[in-house]
Amino acid sequence: MSEVLYSEGDLKKVVAELAAAIAADFMGHSVLLLGLLKGCQPFLADLCRQLSYHQLNVAVDYLLVSSYVGSSSSGKVVIKQLSVDESFCRQRNVIVIDDIFDTGLTLQKVTAWLQAKGAAQVKSCVLLSKSGCNQTEMVPDYCGVEIPAVFVVGYGLDYNEKYRELPYIKVLAENEISA
Ligand code: IMP
Ligand code: MG
Repeated sequence: MSEVLYSEGDLKKVVAELAAAIAADFMGHSVLLLGLLKGCQPFLADLCRQLSYHQLNVAVDYLLVSSYVGSSSSGKVVIKQLSVDESFCRQRNVIVIDDIFDTGLTLQKVTAWLQAKGAAQVKSCVLLSKSGCNQTEMVPDYCGVEIPAVFVVGYGLDYNEKYRELPYIKVLAENEISA
């Protein structure tokens, strides 16, 4: 049996709190929310809606980033820019949006990549952060909730491209691994 960690209602509250924190810090400034595909999708959509309730205007763009194979990180982070505008992040206040912070290698690589492309400032917002897994000096600027070092799926998070569609987050059960 899989263990539901966060229900739809729990997630809604967490996202609303993150939006309130971001809106308080960035009110009156232009912000580019940069989602890391594919896992950011439901989180970013809900976060945008919550930010609109605070009248914070945001632009949205995406990077396609991958590092995971099955349920373990390959440690090799690959970034693909999707915007046709080469200078899309130059002199912008960028908030990188990711589903989960694990080893930190993704955020480290994306942050350096954005700084090299001339972003004015790079902040980060993650829905989940796994305790005790960080292999870097990175700390997410906005973090929804800390979870233990378990493999989770749902609400955008996948295992071999499965489970992204679930409206809640659950721990992947033993019998679902390689199923
Ligand atoms: P990091 O580079 O190790 O911090 O990993 C970040 C990326 O790994 C996330 O954007 C996810 O795509 C993936 N990831 C890490 N942990 C999990 C998990 O528990 N479930 C699904 N994907 C995960
Ligand atoms: Mg991801």
